[in-house]
Amino acid sequence: MAQQNDQFKKIIAHCKEYGFIYQSSEVYDGLSAVYDYGPLGSLLKNNIKEYWWKSMVQMNNNIVGIDAAIFMHPKTWKASGHVDAFNDPLVDNKTSNKRYRADVLVEDYMDKIEAKINKEVDKAQKRFGDAFNEQEFRLTNQRVLANQAKMDDIGGRLATAMTDGDMEGLKQLILDLEIACPESGSKEWTDVRQFNLMFSTQLGNIAGEEGKLYLRPETAQGIFVNFLNVQKTTRQKVPFGIAQIGKAFRNEIVARQFIFRMREFEQMEMQFFVKPGTELEWYEKWKETRLNWHKALGTPESKLRFHDHENLAHYANAAVDIQFDFPFGFKELEGIHSRTDFDLKAHQELSGRKIQYFDPEENANYVPYVVETSIGCDRMFLATLSNCLIEETLTSADGKESKRDVLKLHPAIAPIKCAILPLKKNEPGIVEKAKGLFKELSFSFQCQYDDTGSIGKLYRRQDAVGTPFCVTVDFDTLEDDTVTLRDRDTLEQIRVPMSEVESIIREKVNMKNLFV
Ligand code: GAP
Repeated sequence: MAQQNDQFKKIIAHCKEYGFIYQSSEVYDGLSAVYDYGPLGSLLKNNIKEYWWKSMVQMNNNIVGIDAAIFMHPKTWKASGHVDAFNDPLVDNKTSNKRYRADVLVEDYMDKIEAKINKEVDKAQKRFGDAFNEQEFRLTNQRVLANQAKMDDIGGRLATAMTDGDMEGLKQLILDLEIACPESGSKEWTDVRQFNLMFSTQLGNIAGEEGKLYLRPETAQGIFVNFLNVQKTTRQKVPFGIAQIGKAFRNEIVARQFIFRMREFEQMEMQFFVKPGTELEWYEKWKETRLNWHKALGTPESKLRFHDHENLAHYANAAVDIQFDFPFGFKELEGIHSRTDFDLKAHQELSGRKIQYFDPEENANYVPYVVETSIGCDRMFLATLSNCLIEETLTSADGKESKRDVLKLHPAIAPIKCAILPLKKNEPGIVEKAKGLFKELSFSFQCQYDDTGSIGKLYRRQDAVGTPFCVTVDFDTLEDDTVTLRDRDTLEQIRVPMSEVESIIREKVNMKNLFV
């Protein structure tokens, strides 16, 4: 656990040091759970979005993209259920006056029991070595079984209370487990009450409730209300999808864990409209497609897992999270939901407009069912950094050891593809060649010209920000127009003609490599 915390702290410090992410309004001591992306962060985030967009819109003839407004008619949120039910259970500690999500307090308690189980398994693994059978151990060890039974019991009570909206039951669970405030250690809690997560604001020309607007808490509703517009103007036939990337806002009670849970964040969502009765087939297909999308980036399978929702929302007939092994454990990275016809029907009813699809094969009208894939771009950013930031020990030819921080991003999403480094910053011939190469390569991809240190230091800096290639221009370049091309991961250095650099790098950083 301590090691995991260290890794998390390291990621946060790394983001600040190299200009990936800053706390918002830092000069005013920051705004809680709001972050700004710096020069490298915005490049990386754009590349993640481009990868997603291409995988959805560019690579599928039956998925189209839109960019809907953040503000929507307030009835949208009534129909979608967000006004009445987009709530989290809130509880205050009477001693510290700190506010918590009641369900998260219980989940954190369960995480501690799970950590105990894992410790027990690790200990046994070490003791028995290769002969160890983890599955059998988990099924027979008395301490593991007792802890597992405790977890199942708590999980069951939590799920029932959440599904039934039973705030008293939730409070009783916190009291029964004797959960203490992490800040003050006190077990004095207020009642648990529902807290709506939508931010609201006011239209300029209408006073009172009538003019109340919400900042969208999900991008999906912009897709649902545009279903007919898009279907008619693109002449798409069911099954087809609509994709969107955009900001969403949630007044999270406890916004923590850096960019994992923010109040302003970005979502990449796709609603796939299908014929009723075929939705579960599509749901399975999208589960697989989305897992492969993550794996193509080089994320090992061991760091990804499916987690089925135990209690389905009333409008869903299947739901799963793709969880990633963040430094603070496996948590939701993406959701895949079979949302039935709930949203389209709700908008149809409240708007009084017919929102249906005429299926020429069936010769019938129906409200399509929807399979949704929804991933937070910021969460994906955090998962990417967690997966790729590595501390490596290097051994030089003379046996000396040194450490380097290296961000092993897939070259296709790296913020800078190539750094051009002049061996001597005051040597006019070298500078001229290096600047010429920088200008030439910049037509093709994002490059950086850096002459602010020794070559060794410049390599380390580029490693730390994930640049897959460095090109060094030196005295030999003046003689024969060749440069040294260094590979971030293998550290191999090869001599290549300047005229070939562009094509070598272009091939390696092409996003196509993520799709084939
Ligand atoms: N339209 C479905 C929907 O919004 P969700 O599970 O509430 O479902 C989808 O959110 C994804 O959005 C999550 O899997 C997560 O990646 C991201 N997300 C949700 N709340 C977030 C927050 N407060 N900060 C950052 N990302 C968030």
